[in-house]
Amino acid sequence: MKTIFTLAFSASLVALTQSSALAADATRGKQVYNKVGCYQCHGYEGQGANTGPRLAPEPMAVEGLSAFLRNAASTTMPPYSEKVLSDADVADIHAYLSTIKKPPAGKSIPLLNNP
Ligand code: HEC
Repeated sequence: MKTIFTLAFSASLVALTQSSALAADATRGKQVYNKVGCYQCHGYEGQGANTGPRLAPEPMAVEGLSAFLRNAASTTMPPYSEKVLSDADVADIHAYLSTIKKPPAGKSIPLLNNP
């Protein structure tokens, strides 16, 4: 019984530590996104433009985002090393992009559906 309790207790401690390490801050992510200039090519809402593709809503997984940012040298996008953008910054940018909502469907907008 004691062992089970100890195991359960350590497991919850591990879970607690992991979740706080992964807690990304969307508000800070928006600030970083604007500060390092992602908006210049991808738009303030990650909506994309002819300078860069759409990033949100439904951004790619944080691992893919990080890999792309670190190794974008072969593309028209500049790479962002850890010196410029820490892993925490990338996680926060991802959190920000994840908060961007889908636009309403065209059919739900009366003005667009008047014959
Ligand atoms: C100078 C313009 C420019 C800036 C600044 C820039 N990007 Fe990009 N980004 C691009 C272009 C162009 C592409 C697509 C073409 C390519 O693969 O190079 C791209 C692609 C991406 C992709 C891959 C999208 C996909 O669906 O394949 C991600 C993710 C991304 N950018 C995130 C960011 C983030 C986050 C920042 C800020 C830290 C940023 N970019 C800054 C121009 C830019």
